[in-house]
Amino acid sequence: MNRDDITTGPAGDPAADGRLVGSFADGEDQAVEAALRPKSLDEFVGQERVREQLDLVLTAARARGATADHVLLSGAPGLGKTTLSMIIATEMQAPIRITSGPAIQHAGDLAAILSSLQEGEVLFLDEIHRMSRPAEEMLYMAMEDFRVDVIVGKGPGATAIPLDLPPFTLVGATTRAGLLPPPLRDRFGFTAHMEFYAPAELERVVHRSAQLLDVEIDTEGAAEIAGRSRGTPRIANRLLRRVRDYAQVKADGRITRAVASAALRVYEVDTRGLDRLDRAVLHALLKLFGGGPVGLSTLAVAVGEERETVEEVAEPFLVREGLLARTPRGRIATPAAWAHLGLVPPQQAPPGAGGGGQRGLFGP
Ligand SMILES: Nc1ncnc2c1ncn2[C@@H]1O[C@H](COP(=O)(O)OP(=O)(O)O)[C@@H](O)[C@H]1O
Ligand SMILES: [Mg+2]
Repeated sequence: MNRDDITTGPAGDPAADGRLVGSFADGEDQAVEAALRPKSLDEFVGQERVREQLDLVLTAARARGATADHVLLSGAPGLGKTTLSMIIATEMQAPIRITSGPAIQHAGDLAAILSSLQEGEVLFLDEIHRMSRPAEEMLYMAMEDFRVDVIVGKGPGATAIPLDLPPFTLVGATTRAGLLPPPLRDRFGFTAHMEFYAPAELERVVHRSAQLLDVEIDTEGAAEIAGRSRGTPRIANRLLRRVRDYAQVKADGRITRAVASAALRVYEVDTRGLDRLDRAVLHALLKLFGGGPVGLSTLAVAVGEERETVEEVAEPFLVREGLLARTPRGRIATPAAWAHLGLVPPQQAPPGAGGGGQRGLFGP
């Protein structure tokens, strides 16, 4: 397996800042993820529809003795795209080659990879939406006709030599299916949309990982971790490791609900999976601006962060959770946000409370 087997954020991406509830893989994640990856479709937790559809695609191809159709996996970071690509190769008993869009700078890089593929091989192209345009065009022909034009020489004397490729399966992964040019999207025989996981599914992920890591955990301990994992197996696995540390140092090594919640309090991950930054944004919005609407820049200054950090790191999850909404007039908090921070929205203060609600908001 080569070094490209990593899904990090794009360089300078604030989402790749190594926060405990961030969804990109950090160094430690990369080291343990290989050990935690399910090896077969049966072991892969959740995503029932994707699993069923993919199973049909692969079983049918196997029965025909053919190479499987090209597969596009789309979904947020940490939901299992890299894992599924490896499972596809395993299920097809085919070797896998792993690379990524950003690693392919020139069409020539792609030509070199394509022309060295073996028959039936799986080519995993991570972050396929970040490939260069010329490489993308070469890929169209490779996917459809199993052919590439290799350019020999430079300048006016350059010639294109057509080269036949053995049949292969391209597995593309993207966090942004909408960014793929339609001609590329259309060349995939099957597209799997990965959804965020339900808490019960993440609970199974946590139990499975705990077993592999040889950590003792009970049902409630797993539920506690699952509920704070933002629908994302990568985060669930990371929280499990932090809770394990705590359990070893502060308890008898066994993870119960009490141990999990005490540990995650130390790491400042709250019951809904919000971390300190998320909560700071909500706090400012509620306590300083009465729930909004307030402009992004003002909100960012109030929490002492860059605009981009608030917008790209904190907000997406707050919006997804229905705690914050972006409106043309600015950011507003939803009733769920007030409830989550245990505060009372101003307009809902009981009548005749004599400003008690106000004191709740702006008091010490
Ligand atoms: N359905 C699943 N069942 C069990 N573990 C999973 C599942 N999906 C992801 N994981 C775990 O989460 C981690 C991140 O998965 P990965 O495939 O690298 O995500 P992505 O490539 O989408 O960012 C891996 O350690 C993997 O074992
Ligand atoms: Mg990945």
